[in-house]
Amino acid sequence: MPTPERTAKIAAYRQNLLPFAVAVVNMSKEMNIGSLLRTAHAAAVRELILVGETSYNTYAAATAEKWTPVRCVPAPAEFVAEAQAAGHSLVAVERDPRAISLFEAAYPPRPVFVLGAEKYGVPPEILDASTLIVEIPQWGLVPSLNVAAAGSLVIYDHLAKLCGARAAVKAPASLADLRRLAESIP
Ligand SMILES: C[S@@+](CC[C@H](N)C(=O)[O-])C[C@H]1O[C@@H](n2cnc3c(N)ncnc32)[C@H](O)[C@@H]1O
Repeated sequence: MPTPERTAKIAAYRQNLLPFAVAVVNMSKEMNIGSLLRTAHAAAVRELILVGETSYNTYAAATAEKWTPVRCVPAPAEFVAEAQAAGHSLVAVERDPRAISLFEAAYPPRPVFVLGAEKYGVPPEILDASTLIVEIPQWGLVPSLNVAAAGSLVIYDHLAKLCGARAAVKAPASLADLRRLAESIP
């Protein structure tokens, strides 16, 4: 039986989920999805969308799956249509000639950050439908980052830029403050 404090914390968390989402497409390693879900949960992401995948590793999620909604969409075309109908902006996280560096990226309102499969990346139809493609600069000799690491970097870059956009809110005191801030940006 949770304590009253824990019950209140759970209610506040659910009430203040932030207006952005994360999606992964055709991911093959369930551990990566679980790991990304753990970061998404820490950052109060509204939901994690699994495109073309239906399961993930709950060990890596470390119970985040209990609190952060996870939804499955069968295919990229359906995912794109749904996001567009809901007025969400797709932000593909990918190395691509059209990509903007993470250091310069300005994220659109209500973004859905889309991560690609370990082997094949974000599919072309999602890249083409994206408002923005963001690339994390690399200087190493390995050609790409782990997908969960890449997603985590972009999630926290988004939060850092949200807070930076309002000088008065350098370090939000609470999740409710952060949600009000996120929703105040048109
Ligand atoms: C391991 S990478 C995919 C590598 C794939 N073999 C390729 O060459 O496209 C898996 C996913 O992590 C993300 N990712 C990895 N490194 C990235 C980077 N430097 N910038 C942006 N996204 C990255 C992308 O979403 C990518 O689809």
